[in-house]
Amino acid sequence: MQIEFVAAGASASASGAVAVLVFEGAALSGAAAALDSAASGALARAISATGFTGAKGRSLEVVAPAGLQAARVLLIGAGASDGFDAAAAETAAAEAYQALKTSGAKTLTIGLDDLPADAAARAALGVRLAAYRFDRYRTKEKPEKKPSIETVRIAVADVAAAQAADGPLKALAEAVIFARDLVSEPANVVYPEEFARRVKALEPMGLSVEVLGEAEMAKLGMGSLLGVGQGSRRDSQLAVIQWKGAADPNAQPVAFVGKGVCFDTGGISLKPADGMEDMKWDMGGAAAVAGLMHVLAGRKAKVNAVGILGLVENMPDGAAQRPGDIVTSMSGQTIEVINTDAEGRLVLADALWYCQDRFKPKFMIDLATLTGAIIIALGNDYAGLFSNNDELADNLLAASKASGDALWRLPLPAAYEKQIESMAADVKNVGGRPGGSITAALFIQRFVNGLPWAHLDIASTAWKKPSAVPTIPDGATGFGVRLLNQLVADHYEA
Ligand code: BES
Ligand code: MN
Ligand code: ZN
Repeated sequence: MQIEFVAAGASASASGAVAVLVFEGAALSGAAAALDSAASGALARAISATGFTGAKGRSLEVVAPAGLQAARVLLIGAGASDGFDAAAAETAAAEAYQALKTSGAKTLTIGLDDLPADAAARAALGVRLAAYRFDRYRTKEKPEKKPSIETVRIAVADVAAAQAADGPLKALAEAVIFARDLVSEPANVVYPEEFARRVKALEPMGLSVEVLGEAEMAKLGMGSLLGVGQGSRRDSQLAVIQWKGAADPNAQPVAFVGKGVCFDTGGISLKPADGMEDMKWDMGGAAAVAGLMHVLAGRKAKVNAVGILGLVENMPDGAAQRPGDIVTSMSGQTIEVINTDAEGRLVLADALWYCQDRFKPKFMIDLATLTGAIIIALGNDYAGLFSNNDELADNLLAASKASGDALWRLPLPAAYEKQIESMAADVKNVGGRPGGSITAALFIQRFVNGLPWAHLDIASTAWKKPSAVPTIPDGATGFGVRLLNQLVADHYEA
């Protein structure tokens, strides 16, 4: 799909589908008023005939109005005009795309004539995210079920300014889509080595990517990560991605670490069959970190950043790790593996230790589809935030508000450490049902060596099935890419 910005007024003469804003109280936006007068008041009549008020989330479709080229005009309810900001433009444009994508129209013209350029660029972002589909394995889809829209034109007063504002947002959309594709791919296609190859293929963007195999990780003493992958026919990988965009290439980096369990059967502590297919999504944290590095390079962010992906497959097998096994992590701490299904924290333990040991970053943020308990605690709209550093946590919460990737902070009470004390090793990998997401975070905290750190448990938000958000089609969300891009842009760029 093609997106272009065109001069204000374009919607009045456009063919295909046209969408314009109507504010609360049925106040026509500039583009809507121009259409209405070309159609001799047909739109205003449709509004008064139906009781459409312009309330947010509502819309009214007028088919083939006399006096217009357009096959259909969608009036998008935009709510109160003074509360209508760039975020609202993004949502409205995404709603318009969703409403018209299979209408048969090949072009969609969205009239935003009276909005500033940054709102028009956010509208383009909304359309790009809304139009995401993972359809590469569908060979027999009926044509009428496929989106008909090939071109989206956004009419705006200042075309050049909108194009300029679109640059970094287009890079963001491409990165979110890259992450969604990784998450959506089945585990027989994207396994650790293939994941690493897809990340390695980003090097032409200016990223540098190293991939460590099992032998190299064994040399480093990563017994915790390697234990998770030892039952798999696929080799475990650690991908190390670097972006050097700061003026000083040696400036201390910021660091992001992702759980990349390409498939999580639970291992010998096998999961039930029902819903196990969802565990192809258990690399959503690694995909978000890869997506973040993609957007940092794509928009040439003025920051040095490191992304580390712990890529494994958790399988039951004769060679698999057993409940009760004790592994030695790169940190030197020994871990009793009570439940082989609590594998994400075992992967992060070594990935985080390696990260702080090698890069001495300003902070580390890990992202992981870590616990079912976070879904019980927060439902499907918030990811859990845990941090040992209030400034980092506050910056993340601010980025959360600005980006729409919602976070809720949870505590790290020292008293709960008792739950992960082991009789036989330094720590055990499960702490029982009470506060399951918290004890998981406390476990991870033992491997950050005191650095400022935040842990995002995104098991609740990495996919939506179904989704009620117009910018997020059902399935992989790309959660975390926007959040972290916002965090870096707002706080850590020179
Ligand atoms: N990948 C799962 C967590 C998960 C569950 C993500 C549901 C998304 C949806 C993780 O590896 C896991 O299995 N966690 C266990 C931990 C338990 C054994 C302590 C869980 O949450 O049940
Ligand atoms: Mn698991
Ligand atoms: Zn898992």
